[in-house]
Amino acid sequence: MEILRTVDDMRGWRARLSQDIRVGFAPTMGNLHAGHVSLIHTAKAHADLAVASIFVNPMQFGPGEDLESYPRTLEVDLAKLQAAGADAVFIPRVEDIYPEGIDQHTSVDVPDLTDVLCGAQRPGHFRGVTTVVSKLLGVVRPHIAFFGAKDLQQVLVIKKMVRDLLINVEIVTVPTLRDPDGLAMSSRNGYLTPEERALAPNFAAALTACALTLQNTSSDVSETIDIAKKALEDNGFTVDYLEARRTSDLSLSPAPNDEIAIFGAVYLGTTRLIDNRVIPI
Ligand code: PAJ
Repeated sequence: MEILRTVDDMRGWRARLSQDIRVGFAPTMGNLHAGHVSLIHTAKAHADLAVASIFVNPMQFGPGEDLESYPRTLEVDLAKLQAAGADAVFIPRVEDIYPEGIDQHTSVDVPDLTDVLCGAQRPGHFRGVTTVVSKLLGVVRPHIAFFGAKDLQQVLVIKKMVRDLLINVEIVTVPTLRDPDGLAMSSRNGYLTPEERALAPNFAAALTACALTLQNTSSDVSETIDIAKKALEDNGFTVDYLEARRTSDLSLSPAPNDEIAIFGAVYLGTTRLIDNRVIPI
């Protein structure tokens, strides 16, 4: 596995590949778990070479968020990528990606989709994501890039960015990997105390219950969501949002033939967890 530490190294490695090699790419912020590894496996299945990146992107963290404490586990991450069969990993430093800092940096803004859910709760977050992903795509120049369904809003935002900016890459959504008790794998799960970790699967269970109710009965959407919210609050969660929205454009009030998903973000103590359930039509 090639370890590429600078933009120049990454560009050089990419430039030496022959034209007919298809490159798959999975950007990450490290502290890799099986969900990240499944992106690499999917990349290997869809492309000739799989490239990962590890970069804790300061631009997507808000003031008071966990940028400083975000887990950094590079050596273990590299071993996991190697074992997963990654062909290269790009691990730039912050100075390499933002040589002139963040404040005056050009940014990429996707409208509307970023006004709701995590975009409403974390102002500037998606601007940071789309800016760094557009930079990474520009350096790695993959044919196909892989993102996890756990961050469904992120995938929708990136798909729109790629369409709008005519970036020549296919975006593929990879299913959410979960612990056996249903909790969606996340680097932030490591922040949970043992007591919080024991409660955490109730979040996934509440989303599943909501989705099944809406799929199988004619229950009212907002009533169903209110019941789930209350159950979560009674179980020790603070609900940041729990909403049913169309997966096409994240709007509310779906029409009969629109696919919807239940999107949730909750706090257990100071740890913020997100998850979602798509309700097939
Ligand atoms: P990070 O949280 O490290 O996630 C990297 C990728 O792994 C994302 O596409 C995310 O959706 C996916 N992922 C996380 N948990 C997953 C799970 N349980 N199952 C399947 N896939 C999962 O998302 C980011 O980093 C950043 O915003 C990034 C896109 C790298 C830009 O900085």
